[in-house]
Amino acid sequence: MATAEQIKALLRSHVERDDSRFYSVALQLAAKEARQGHVKLADDIKKIVEKSQSSYIRSVPNEPVPLKRVNTGDLQGLLEYRPHSVRLNELVLPNDIVSRFEKIIVEQRQKDKLSKFGLTASRKLMFVGPPGTGKTMSASMLATELKLPIFTIVLDSLITRFMGETATKLRAIFNHISQTRAVYLFDEFDAIGTQRNASNDVGEIRRVLNSFLMFVEQDSSDSIIIAATNHPELLDKALHRRFDHFINFSKPGSLQIEKLIAQSLSLFDLENLTLSKIAEIASGLSSAEVTRACDDAAKEAVLHNDAVLTQEILSEAFERRKTGKALFTS
Ligand SMILES: Nc1ncnc2c1ncn2[C@@H]1O[C@H](COP(=O)(O)OP(=O)(O)O)[C@@H](O)[C@H]1O
Ligand SMILES: [Mg+2]
Repeated sequence: MATAEQIKALLRSHVERDDSRFYSVALQLAAKEARQGHVKLADDIKKIVEKSQSSYIRSVPNEPVPLKRVNTGDLQGLLEYRPHSVRLNELVLPNDIVSRFEKIIVEQRQKDKLSKFGLTASRKLMFVGPPGTGKTMSASMLATELKLPIFTIVLDSLITRFMGETATKLRAIFNHISQTRAVYLFDEFDAIGTQRNASNDVGEIRRVLNSFLMFVEQDSSDSIIIAATNHPELLDKALHRRFDHFINFSKPGSLQIEKLIAQSLSLFDLENLTLSKIAEIASGLSSAEVTRACDDAAKEAVLHNDAVLTQEILSEAFERRKTGKALFTS
């Protein structure tokens, strides 16, 4: 027979709506009965658990979570819900990265078809590259294209605010990942993505990194996990094995700069401008800086030149960006 402890644990997990704990206690109970020779009873319990577990798994939301149901509960301040609509064609990236994103999107959209053949859609991604090259934007793009919510995990506050209990918090985050299908961006991942043996490593950071690696490895959810970093040199080699795709973002070349300008200033007539000249000035700027220089030029044209954009206005805006003397800082 079930012990008093087991009965209490069953009741408690029911009251707390902790289904996985409920099933685990029930299975322990079945095991105990089996050991005592009550094979039929053990078998019956197991069957009941398996039957209700399969309907429980089916009921776990696999579809986009409606806005009002997004509740980060205990994880407030760690898990930020930041929806931001970005389409793939708004990103200016080299073709090879675009086609990798297209592949990832197609795999995700057809993940059920893949899984029928025992295949899993790529969903653990590492974005590496300098600031302002579109890493955060790409995470939003994947969420938009896949109609999924996006959560950003603020690792800085995870480590500073929860010193000593970061592993517990990480576990809670990964629970959320397995329960709510979404895009999870571990942004500025550097805070924990440092070389595990580096001499400046604080014990806490090392522990967090180890737990993070373990959780990423064990995670078999339907969510998309993205880790983004500006410091590839600090990355531990062990990370490579755990991600389906390593995507390297870099500063834009001249063709990409021209595309960024055309896209940012699509409301203006650019026909008489020589964008290749502007791209020369812009060389070395990040995509974010190019976009901001375009904003500066647009404001200048609207406020001081009857909304007509000239080569001069545009090149001056880029010169200012380059010398760090932006007229409008943003
Ligand atoms: N590849 C890109 N294509 C188009 N716009 C970009 C790109 N990269 C950056 N931007 C612009 O710069 C802003 C900041 O980029 P972000 O994605 O936050 O860069 P990162 O996360 O790599 O630091 C974006 O919101 C967008 O306006
Ligand atoms: Mg970013």
